[in-house]
Amino acid sequence: MSENKTKKVILSGMRPTGRLHWGNYTGALENWNQLQDEYNCHFMVADWHVLTTALDKAKEIGHNSREMFLDWLGAGLDPEKSVLFIQSEVKEHAELNLIMSMMISMGRLERNPTFKEQIRDLNMGNEISFGHLGYPVLQAADILVYKAHAVPVGEDQLPHLELTREMARKFNRIFGDVFPEPEPLVTKFSRFPGTDGKRMSKSLGNTIEISASPEEIIKKIKPAFTDPARLRKTDPGHPEVCAIYTWYQKFLPGQVEETASECRSASRGCVDCKMKLADGVIEHFAPLRDRRAEYENDPKRLDEIIAAGCEKAQIEAACTMEKVHNTMGIG
Ligand code: TRP
Repeated sequence: MSENKTKKVILSGMRPTGRLHWGNYTGALENWNQLQDEYNCHFMVADWHVLTTALDKAKEIGHNSREMFLDWLGAGLDPEKSVLFIQSEVKEHAELNLIMSMMISMGRLERNPTFKEQIRDLNMGNEISFGHLGYPVLQAADILVYKAHAVPVGEDQLPHLELTREMARKFNRIFGDVFPEPEPLVTKFSRFPGTDGKRMSKSLGNTIEISASPEEIIKKIKPAFTDPARLRKTDPGHPEVCAIYTWYQKFLPGQVEETASECRSASRGCVDCKMKLADGVIEHFAPLRDRRAEYENDPKRLDEIIAAGCEKAQIEAACTMEKVHNTMGIG
């Protein structure tokens, strides 16, 4: 615990919308895993945030939060090193959300590019809730309530982080210095392809879950997208356009060169290539699957881990709120 004081504080979160897939793994989880030794990490299941865009699926949130916890533990997030918790268990987020909502104008929130995109893509018209507009305010509260110095995020989240910094600045200016201005730690990952070659995304139905069984992995890899110009096994292939090849690069780096040259010379066919990949990724993800299963088969232990993480988070958040109350002179 004491050494944590000298480490910089990190907070990041994910919305629990279902089992995590290879894109989430390469885009975030793997990076989080590596940050655990260097930073005082806080990883949060952003369950309240799901309400902003998926109110129709509200009843699934509790179950999905547990599933996300299992995926995290399976992937190596360590409750001994990091604070792993669920947002809605720490009510201080809601209080700071209210206070931060006064630190930002409506116009600024309406101009948020993520918000504008969602309205366009989800065809939401006039059905936008007050809470949805305020998504970045709740996110700011998530970050600031732990006085985080850095936030590992994908590039898409940069506008939200800028808003967080603005709210922190405004609070500090009006009331006094409480919050550090958090820096983004941008996760570098090139577009990670799904089974259809497009960006892997749950909404496109092209995902492979990190918890997938060997049978499921084979079933999803078999029909996956390859070089469209390679119609026959005897046609030379172009690995750089093939999803399978990107997966080799990510998960089986030792086999990349051989795979590329055998593809280009047409000495390895796509079916063989996929089977070899399947064998490799099944092995690659086996430790994750096993670890996940251990916790899944011991729900009491999982409950304890979740409760302990939420308690740790709550104590820290309450400490920040006390500072906020004192600085503001109310609350
Ligand atoms: N908005 C983030 C996403 O969609 C999830 C999130 C909620 C988050 N609160 C956060 C990320 C705080 C970083 C910090 O991915």
